[in-house]
Amino acid sequence: MGGIFQIDEAQFIKQAKQFQLPGQTIAVVKNNAYNYGLEFAVKAFAISGIRAFATTSVDDAVKIRQMCGDSADIMLMNPTTDFKRARMFNLDITLPSPGYYDTYKEELQGLNIHLEYAGLFNRSGLADITELKYILEDMKQSGIELNFKGLWTHFGYSDEFDGIYETERANWLQFVKDVKTLGVEPSVIHAQNSASYVRDGLFNGHSHVRLGIGLYGSKPYADLDDRDFIQPAVLSAPIIQFRSLTAGMTLGYGAAFKADSDCKVAIVDIGYGDGVLRARAGFECEIGGRTYPIAALMMSHMAVLVDDEVTADMDVYLYNSRLRIDKYTELGVGANSEQLGALNYQSLGREIIYDV
Ligand SMILES: Cc1ncc(COP(=O)(O)O)c(C=O)c1O
Repeated sequence: MGGIFQIDEAQFIKQAKQFQLPGQTIAVVKNNAYNYGLEFAVKAFAISGIRAFATTSVDDAVKIRQMCGDSADIMLMNPTTDFKRARMFNLDITLPSPGYYDTYKEELQGLNIHLEYAGLFNRSGLADITELKYILEDMKQSGIELNFKGLWTHFGYSDEFDGIYETERANWLQFVKDVKTLGVEPSVIHAQNSASYVRDGLFNGHSHVRLGIGLYGSKPYADLDDRDFIQPAVLSAPIIQFRSLTAGMTLGYGAAFKADSDCKVAIVDIGYGDGVLRARAGFECEIGGRTYPIAALMMSHMAVLVDDEVTADMDVYLYNSRLRIDKYTELGVGANSEQLGALNYQSLGREIIYDV
């Protein structure tokens, strides 16, 4: 058995409870709920009190509906053309552009629509208020009636502290005002990801925050207290064998590691094929409560420089309460969501620890 991604359900729920804004949180569960597992995460979020979910996948949205029943609000953050299932499963959809409106205006009638504003992040969404004016004018002329239930954007700079977020936020707040000036009054207004929520609390006039990483227990930016973010996951793998190297010997592809002196290396049953980012090589892992440097990462294997304290029956930890995902974000290994998103669900074992 190779690497195991272990999640503590009670810790997961505790974090979701302590981070959410009660009654006003949309949980982002895209990409298999940041790889915590869609079904596990939705169930745990529901236990924590969350009733609204956002994802990019229609298949996932349908699963959420089947799990949560009619009481949940489920929103698709990507534009969809699967209007049949959006209707059948009461999924809120996103309107990202005048072009999408022009193509699908007939099909959009009767659906709950969230208008998206592109803002500085500019991945998708209306570029400015003239695009909404165009849509409203065309609706009038074509006799189209649409239900603009929601209005949203996504911030790309809320974890940065160089002033761009302030501009991004100001542009958005002006857009919200302009939308209302046109007589559109969405009941659900949501813009803030974890970093923006921590920095600003809920914006005035907004109904929800739309949170991902903070709910999953990683800090959205470095300058925050670890105690406010309980990481509910542990990633570990077993040792397969030991190698004894003499000074000058090499190991791994392209001699990834070269022994400066005689040393012992543990070969561990996990690699970048399982989702450990290659950038993690050079940083530490933990064995028997002590830290040891990762000498090299291969597709299915990891070489760790060890000493005689380490025995073959010990597990090697890549993430645990001391080896935090957000710590490696700070150290430049990869963003929190990059580290989580890389985890290979097919090759890693998964264990949920339930409180009994
Ligand atoms: C559209 C959208 N909203 C919300 C989030 C949640 O962001 P975070 O995980 O930083 O809270 C994401 C994450 O990438 C997103 O793409």
